Amino acid sequence: MTLVLGIESSCDETAAALVTSDRRILAQAIASQEEEHSPYGGVVPEIAARAHAERLAPLIDKVLKEAGKTLADCDAIAATAGPGLIGGVMVGLVTAKALAMASDKPLMAINHLEGHALSPRLADSDLRFPYALLLVSGGHCQILRVQGVGNYQRIATTIDDALGEAFDKTAKILGLGYPGGPAVEKLAREGDAQAVPLPRPLVHSKEPHFSFAGLKSAVLRAHDCGEHSDADIAASFQQAALDCILDRTRRALSGMDAVSALVCAGGVAANQTIRAGLEGLAAEFDLPFTAPPLPLCTDNAAMIAWAGLERLNAGFAADPLELKARPRWPLDPDAEPARGAGVKA
Ligand code: KG4
Ligand code: ZN
Repeated sequence: MTLVLGIESSCDETAAALVTSDRRILAQAIASQEEEHSPYGGVVPEIAARAHAERLAPLIDKVLKEAGKTLADCDAIAATAGPGLIGGVMVGLVTAKALAMASDKPLMAINHLEGHALSPRLADSDLRFPYALLLVSGGHCQILRVQGVGNYQRIATTIDDALGEAFDKTAKILGLGYPGGPAVEKLAREGDAQAVPLPRPLVHSKEPHFSFAGLKSAVLRAHDCGEHSDADIAASFQQAALDCILDRTRRALSGMDAVSALVCAGGVAANQTIRAGLEGLAAEFDLPFTAPPLPLCTDNAAMIAWAGLERLNAGFAADPLELKARPRWPLDPDAEPARGAGVKA
């Protein structure tokens, strides 16, 4: 049995977790910064970095004590080394380096997206490579063929906004606060998903890429015209987003080499309507569908510890103490940029 300490600090959650190779989360703690950022309607990088610096060490201490373990019991220290807000990533990575050095344990520098990509295997021991992954978070919207640990083929990406960003902006327009995804989902339950005509950007286009900027602008117009209830706008937005996801993922699956399952991960994978839609889509392709339990969808340290365990198990070497934090770090460095990418509405 192998034990890894995981550290996550790439956005607005400070998190630590102890996870074993037989898929047990011995202890985990997450300190959310919702209160600090909500007056600004989004994450303020400087505030985030300071909050991580204050909270991380006591959080690590807490999970070790809760599990009755010390650093000497850990086989490696895994920390997010990017992509993300650089100040926060540096706090987590430098802490992990110091702990690794002091305890003479290997440092595993984890790509945050790899944490999300492998998180479904922490919850589901039957999930085998290769699988099709829809990775939908606040910063990313991608379809990947997950071929093995450290081996990701990017099939599609967004040419403008990420899906979580579209949820957050819709929430802001409707005055629902930050983070917006769960609030939009809740309000959508009271609305009519067909009430507001909204566009489905890129639906039916040949390449399976995503675009959400036009949808966001249409939500703003629908709100400003004053003819619709907030609940109808939320429900219609969520339906339009789902229609885009289903069409784009269907397109990607049609052109993809064989996979064992359709998987959804990242913060937006917590959305029940989106999970249900994807389950139906997987059935069209005779594939099982899986998504991690809700606490493993949004940012957490268990997925970072798990990615460290997967890397150890796959024979990856420890990372050097001089390793740099990376604000950008694509999972598939060979993927071509999507046509039209970077054009924000
Ligand atoms: O993975 P995550 O915690 O952080 C990033 O790596 O970005 O994802 C956060 C994103 C936010 O945009 C949040 O609004 C969205 O996930 N989200 C949701 C739900 N829960 C979180 N979006 C839709 N429905 C939800 N229930
Ligand atoms: Zn994330």
